[in-house]
Amino acid sequence: MKFFDCSFEGGSRIVIMIGPLAFKFARVREYWRSRMWYFSGVWGNNHERRRYKKYGQKLPLAPTYITFGLVNVQHRGTPVTQEELENEQPWGVLDSKESRFYDLGRASSYCRIAGKIVQCDYGRGNLEAFLKKHFEN
Ligand SMILES: Nc1ncnc2c1ncn2[C@@H]1O[C@H](COP(=O)(O)OP(=O)(O)OP(=O)(O)O)[C@@H](O)[C@H]1O
Ligand SMILES: [Mg+2]
Repeated sequence: MKFFDCSFEGGSRIVIMIGPLAFKFARVREYWRSRMWYFSGVWGNNHERRRYKKYGQKLPLAPTYITFGLVNVQHRGTPVTQEELENEQPWGVLDSKESRFYDLGRASSYCRIAGKIVQCDYGRGNLEAFLKKHFEN
């Protein structure tokens, strides 16, 4: 793992990795054909912070240490391949329809920390429904 790295893959965040930390910056976006600008990753950042607080102890989520809205500070992991994700199934066996609906099947949303695959991109709006359905009683 390089000490310094960055990723421009994400649609809503740019990620800068320094040592053991990942800094996730909200991207600037323009509303469709308007002159309004917004930071598309702020929602995702806030969701991740809140979800980590709520579920981080029991679920496979990369630790989100702090959020400043525009920036999230996460524990940095190493990339995983699609094959590793399919073999290890961090969420257990998922129905393929459900996996698609909640966007849980892309290796780019996961990383490896301390030997285990955890999700690092868990800011998506509808993931809340998945977490509630399976992990709340
Ligand atoms: N904690 C982390 N450790 C290591 N790499 C990470 C971490 N968080 C994100 N990354 C890398 O940065 C990329 C973009 O991050 P992420 O997927 O969270 O952004 P996004 O904009 O929400 O993505 P999407 O376009 O899928 O919604 C990931 O695919 C991954 O390669
Ligand atoms: Mg992503």
